[in-house]
Amino acid sequence: MQDGPPGLRGNLTNYGDSGFALFLRKAFIKGSGYTDDALDRTVVGIVDTGSGFNPCHGNMPQLIEAVKRGVMLAGGLPVEFPTISVHEAFSQPTSMFLRNLMSMDTEEMIRALPVDAVVLIGGCDKTVPAQLMGAASAGKPAIQLVTGSMLTGSHRGVRVGACTDCRSFWGRYRAEEIDDEEIAEVNGRLVGSVGTCSVAGTASTMACVAEALGVSLPGSATPPAVTADRTRYAEMTGTRAVEMAREGLTVDRILTRGAFENALRVLLALGGSTNGLVHLAAVAGRLGYSLDLERFDAMSRETPVLVDLKPAGDHYMEDLHRAGGVPRLLLELRDLLNTDELTVTGRTLGEELDRAPAPFPQEVVRTRSAPVYPAGGIAVLRGNLAPNGAIIKQAAADPVLMEHRGRAVVFEDSEDLARRIDDEDLDVTPDDVLVLRGIGPIGAPGMPEAGYIPIPRKLARQGVKDMVRVSDGRMSGTAAGTIVLHVSPEAAAGGPLALVRDGDTIRLSVEERLIHLDVPDDELAARAQEAPRAAAAPRPGRGYRKLYVDHVNQAEHGCDFDFLRSETDRGAVPGAP
Ligand code: FES
Ligand code: MG
Repeated sequence: MQDGPPGLRGNLTNYGDSGFALFLRKAFIKGSGYTDDALDRTVVGIVDTGSGFNPCHGNMPQLIEAVKRGVMLAGGLPVEFPTISVHEAFSQPTSMFLRNLMSMDTEEMIRALPVDAVVLIGGCDKTVPAQLMGAASAGKPAIQLVTGSMLTGSHRGVRVGACTDCRSFWGRYRAEEIDDEEIAEVNGRLVGSVGTCSVAGTASTMACVAEALGVSLPGSATPPAVTADRTRYAEMTGTRAVEMAREGLTVDRILTRGAFENALRVLLALGGSTNGLVHLAAVAGRLGYSLDLERFDAMSRETPVLVDLKPAGDHYMEDLHRAGGVPRLLLELRDLLNTDELTVTGRTLGEELDRAPAPFPQEVVRTRSAPVYPAGGIAVLRGNLAPNGAIIKQAAADPVLMEHRGRAVVFEDSEDLARRIDDEDLDVTPDDVLVLRGIGPIGAPGMPEAGYIPIPRKLARQGVKDMVRVSDGRMSGTAAGTIVLHVSPEAAAGGPLALVRDGDTIRLSVEERLIHLDVPDDELAARAQEAPRAAAAPRPGRGYRKLYVDHVNQAEHGCDFDFLRSETDRGAVPGAP
């Protein structure tokens, strides 16, 4: 018998005879041609999330090969296994709807298989959160590897990348500034290679956040998918996974309160996707931590946006990589970080920063004295319209609209929006507030990224680029605008958003952190009696959709299932100042 991790002896299903169970296990896997020497080693599982429908994971075969090489260099046995794969564009009704399913798949496969450690390979928006949620619950040594960003493309001399430019070109097409021929041409330019979106969308955000959490190797968040750097990180990740198994470095020792604080800090300084907040709340919940939105907002006020990435800035992920990546950002934030937190390397974050490459002049990661935006990218709002909170990505909003009072133009759900938004007779002006409800975690279900409500066509044609928009949904991290999101409780759960009527006045004040409906309380109570929307919404009768709608929690809790949260309460993140 070997010393150290149990290898194939791990996790034996006991038929009342564990010797026989091992005998069977070995007999079957030897069908793949393994020798006893191979099988009597530390086993590293590699989670394969490749799929023909997931170009963001299109480099999966190369990454798996490199991870395997790294595992074998360290004397371990690599064994890959699949879980579901979730791509943003191929996930009906939404990728968020499938995230929890992927997390359950990941958790249970890690539990089920005799793996001493696991390398999680993910990339596209929901996959890294799903893997971290699952691995956090499974509790074995785990290390995250991301697939890396796609290369940017070029359209008629202009550099383009998915998917901020997808949105801006489509917006120009809607405004009839570009024609059918050009929109068809740009369609083939936006995605330059396999890999994840090249801006500070959710995939890039979660890659950087994972590095800040300490759950992936330092420097590994930013190399593009098709580069030698990416492949080298894959090899190093495999090697490190073997060592983590031998050291018994389980994921709960890395995903601590201090680590989550570091991750929230990086989310803010990155001007990262608002989805990152939902995902971090979900991962933290798996370890018993609850997101405290007020403390997060306080953190936001003292954390400037330093990374100049689209959509809030000008650059792409490959530029961030060349500028020094996440370590460069962490060095700039060092005094605001918990540097005693352990990382997957077995060293603390502070020790890693001591080893980080020395800063050199570059334009992507700004210094604290010359930030992209003076406060954090995300502000938390409250008010009678969002008793449990709402958020706005202030760094990507129009400063003129951040203090605004306007007339509500209400859409009941995405179908209603699609039917009427481009109607020439729609009663709407640029000063109005567009309200979309019924797109929360339960409402849609799966909280679609429909919070990026398009500017009504007749206004877009007049050159209107931004309006205040309010919804209980999410928006893509690649989108920008004065957009209030994640209104909680959502309309379908009986939140006051359900009570807004056309013509009501809504007040947004980012300065006061307020989202307010100028309607008296007694009038709102009377409206609630008249039409309780939550009761009217049809509930699915079967399948995963029923499980989802019956158990999904609200955005501030991460839209996880209530039964997947940890049963231990470890308190709030961020912790008390
Ligand atoms: Fe996969 Fe953007 S669609 S990362
Ligand atoms: Mg996205």
